[in-house]
Parts: sequence; C-alpha cells; structure tokens
Amino acid sequence: MDELVRREVKNIEPYEPGKPIEEVERELGIKAVKMASNENALGPSLRAVAAIKSALGKINLYPDGGAHYLKNLLAEHLKVRKENVILGNGSDEIIRIITETFLNEDEEVVFAEPGFIIYRLAAVVMSGKCVSVPLKNYTHDLEAMSQAINERTKLIFIANPNNPTGTMVNADKVASFMKRLPENVVVIFDEAYYEYVDCNDFPETIDYVKNGRNVITLRTFSKVYGLAGLRIGYGIAGEKFIGEMNRVRQPFNVNSLAQVAARAALEDKEHVRKSRRANSEGKEFLYQEFTRMKITYVPSQANFVLVDVGMNADKATERLIKEGIIVRSMRMYNLPNFIRVTVGTEEQNEKFIKALRKVEMVAAGFSLREKESTDCL
Ligand SMILES: Cc1ncc(COP(=O)(O)O)c(C=O)c1O
Repeated sequence: MDELVRREVKNIEPYEPGKPIEEVERELGIKAVKMASNENALGPSLRAVAAIKSALGKINLYPDGGAHYLKNLLAEHLKVRKENVILGNGSDEIIRIITETFLNEDEEVVFAEPGFIIYRLAAVVMSGKCVSVPLKNYTHDLEAMSQAINERTKLIFIANPNNPTGTMVNADKVASFMKRLPENVVVIFDEAYYEYVDCNDFPETIDYVKNGRNVITLRTFSKVYGLAGLRIGYGIAGEKFIGEMNRVRQPFNVNSLAQVAARAALEDKEHVRKSRRANSEGKEFLYQEFTRMKITYVPSQANFVLVDVGMNADKATERLIKEGIIVRSMRMYNLPNFIRVTVGTEEQNEKFIKALRKVEMVAAGFSLREKESTDCL
C-alpha cells in the first residue's frame, strides 16, 4: 500500500485544526467557548443568514461557476475589474490553486516562520522546495526574504497581518521589497485579517496588481464577515494570472449559499463596523489584563493575540480546556510557551482571563512547590 502513495504526500505533516467546540463539550460535559481559530466572535451578518435562508430552495441546482453577481460586487467594492477576481472554497483553496498553477517541481517557495502552515502544505504537495525565513521581532523580515530569493524562487507568501503573531509590515517596507523583486517571482499578499487593521500605513497591495506587477492579493469572508463555515475567500490579480488559475480551479468550487451570503455580508457595513469595534475593545481589555498579570503579548493588528504564558503551552491549553476555554497552543509553530487566543465577545474575554488567572496561579503554585522540594534536598 505504502508504495502507491506519492512521495510528496508522505512528507506532509497533517494540519491539526483547532479542537471543535462540540467535541470539547461532549468530552467534558461543560459549555465551552472557542477562541482558537480566529473566527468572528459576533457571529455572521444577519443579512447573510437571511440571504442563505431565501436561497435554500435552490440547492438542487449547481452554483454559478463564474459567480457573476458576487464577482461584480467585489470588483465594484475593490475598484478592479471582474476579470481580476478569483473565488475559492476559502482562501486556503486559492493558495492551493496558486501552487498548482505556478509551481514546477523543485522550484522554491519562500515564506516566514512561524507563519501560516498552509503555504508549506501547498508547496510540498506540488513537489516544491520550502524556504522559510525567520521572523524578526515577531514580524516579517522582508530584507531577509529578499535575500532568500535566487534563480529557483517562484513564489513568496507574505501574510499581512501575520498569523500567528498578528504583526504587520507597512507600506514603505513593502515598497522597498517590491523594488527589489525580480520579474519572474510571484508575491502573494495574504490579507485574511485586512479588515481588522487599524494602522494608517498598511500597504494597498491591490495597487501593485493594477500596476501590472506579479502580485496576488488574498482576502477572505471567514474573518470579519463571519462566514468561516461556508468556506469562501477571494484573490485579486492580473487578468492573465486569473485566467491561468481558472484553468486549475474546479468549476463549481464555491457553493451557492456561500455566494449569496458573501454578497449580503459585503453590503452589511454595520456588521463589519460592529465587528471591528468589538475587536478593538476586546484587544484593549486583553492587553490591560495581560499587563496586570505581567504576561508578555505581541500587539496585534488582527483578531487574535499571541501570548507568552510562561509555561508549557500544551499544558496551559489543556488546563484552559478544562475551564471551558479552547485556545491554540503554539508548540507546533516552535513557540513552546505561547498560546494564540482569538478575541472574543466581552463575556468570552472575561471568562478567558478568569480561566487564565486560575491556570497561571496553579502553575505558579506548582513551581513554588517544586522549588521548595528542591530547596530541601
Ligand atoms: C493568514 C491566513 N490566511 C488564510 C487563512 C484561511 O482563510 P480561509 O478560511 O479563507 O481559508 C487563514 C485562516 O486562519 C489565515 O490565518
């Protein structure tokens, strides 16, 4: 059996998604709060929910493979042409479409580490070579990424803001990086958290697309729009790139309910505004509490925060689960003492902080006891 499977597939480390809330509730018999996957804590736009309800009677039909209405709306919203837009079953799928479209065997894919794990997966599956560049001060080191480019480099992924650190690179840094970028390299700016950014010098990467550069900008309906469960994201690129990627894309990759919901969510400006405000207020509250607890965190431009819990992150995560809070351990990202917590509602944030205090106190108690017992030796 083993020899039937492609070599590349064996090199893939399976992606470990956040623990589903139902599983935790079933196992522990308690009500749990999921703050692990950077979803919108306020829920979906109610206009999107209503649009889904009214489209339910038509799910016997295949979706519009060209997503005519949604693409038109996105084009208007982004001030690009419809031909500059590609839709995916989540931006995850577009990342896969990109490596399938552009990456030849042994060509190199540059990305930052710690960074979003899907880039590696998408590269490995196409027999590409991964070149990871360490973050500097939790932020993309664009200088080092430029230096990592050689004649075999084909793709560069830049998550901005970055997951799992929440940091961003600004317009000036991106501009000098783009100046040095060779013609035969494609840069993907993955802007899954774009709508949460509240910094004035965030780069307008779609302008690079408009100026004919080899750039693909990715965005998603999974975060601020609250539609993660429907799986819908989009990419913006030159017409030629989109044409080539459309050859690889499955014809009906985005389902009909996702298409109508995305149209409604895009027009529900009030929901976006409320979500952004709740996120900023939630972050401020968490920062204050972390400071009070003398816990180090990385200030974030997204809807999650990377937190140094000062103890084994797997253990901290397990203990938090027992308190009904699901967060993400960052051990897999080589940050063994860090967790990543998604900003929740006011109530969820308070519950998380209460649970974290308990976990930290228990841990402090343990280390004190351990210290006392070694002192006696
Ligand atoms: C940086 C980054 N890119 C892409 C995605 C995937 O988003 P989607 O739900 O659109 O597949 C995520 C999701 O967490 C992410 O953090």
